[in-house]
Amino acid sequence: MLPRFTWADEPPVVVPGEAGMIVRSARFLDLEMPPEFFDSWLTPVPHFFVRNHMHEPSTLDADEWRLNIAGEVKKPLTLSLKDLAKMELHTVTNTLECAGNGRAFQQPKVPGVQWQRGAVGTAEFTGPRLRYLLQRAGLKPTGKHVMFRGLDEIPGKVPPFIRSIPIEKAIHADTLVATRMNGTSLARHHGFPARALVPGWIGAASCKWLTEIKVLDHEFDGNFMKPGYRMPNHPISPGGEVNPEDTHPLTALEVKSVIAQPGDGSNLKSRSLKIRGAAWAGEAAVTRVEISTDGGTTWRGARLGSQQARYAWRLWEFDWHAPKAGEYTIMSRATDDLGRSQPQAAAWNPSGYLFNAIDQVNIHVAA
Ligand code: MTE
Repeated sequence: MLPRFTWADEPPVVVPGEAGMIVRSARFLDLEMPPEFFDSWLTPVPHFFVRNHMHEPSTLDADEWRLNIAGEVKKPLTLSLKDLAKMELHTVTNTLECAGNGRAFQQPKVPGVQWQRGAVGTAEFTGPRLRYLLQRAGLKPTGKHVMFRGLDEIPGKVPPFIRSIPIEKAIHADTLVATRMNGTSLARHHGFPARALVPGWIGAASCKWLTEIKVLDHEFDGNFMKPGYRMPNHPISPGGEVNPEDTHPLTALEVKSVIAQPGDGSNLKSRSLKIRGAAWAGEAAVTRVEISTDGGTTWRGARLGSQQARYAWRLWEFDWHAPKAGEYTIMSRATDDLGRSQPQAAAWNPSGYLFNAIDQVNIHVAA
């Protein structure tokens, strides 16, 4: 019998690159959103970046899919998609960013997917609260971390994509088991039929194709927790070595802005231009975006877009008239309500995580 494909509500299979996405890897699909698509507060699903460490599940039957909740709980649970749909659903608008976004700009270069600006997107995620599921399973006081496992198809001997988050974040009211994205069922690339949604944190925390939630009395220590997705405890000089014991797991995102337009290397015919982009700060709120058109000597505030939500980026724009024809370096710098501002240079680390240096594009104004 042929396998039944029930990718509910799924748009036609996206041929990599078809929707204008940049294909960073086709073997394990990694798609980056090009800068022009930063024009929408909610990112349409076909433009939402995709980051897969391994093969997506090739068959997945929505009727047969089950989510198991076990570990440090009194009554382990097995839930179907219908069970989840009957629960109280919540919607969280979240900017999801891959920890490796911007890796291509690290100097010296580091190995890994060479993301530039677009391993990030904003969507409305809907589903029951993870804490409700944990309560129903009878969370024990010994539960300190919550582990997620997805249904990825694992090629050869690579370790499975399993990670954990601390219990405090797991029982936060905004942490979901999401079954919907922008009002429709999750698409296959984004974790159909259910994914964790850990708002404000690196994308890797939000496990796709979720099939197992296990409450642990310790932090999970598999490959994608250690050595993966860790930052050095102390600043290290670019190109320097890190002692793996002197590192901590990545959690919330940094403050960051990107310039969507004009694009780097643009040749512009008009001296009047609109500079625009997006800025986000993980669990914090962006309070200000400043623009420099003189290579960082002077800064002026950009207009922040009216659409906002906790964990979601703010779009911003800045009208500028170039005083004369020539070459210009345009920079953007975001600040958040924790008082963090984008640094001149990002904290270099051997995996190129959390790149958040002041963004800059070089343009030529012809007229
Ligand atoms: N979950 C599973 N099961 N397998 C994965 O490879 N990739 C993670 C996370 N969840 C991944 C996963 C990473 S690194 C990121 S950045 C986000 O999913 C990307 O989510 P998206 O592809 O929906 O944009």
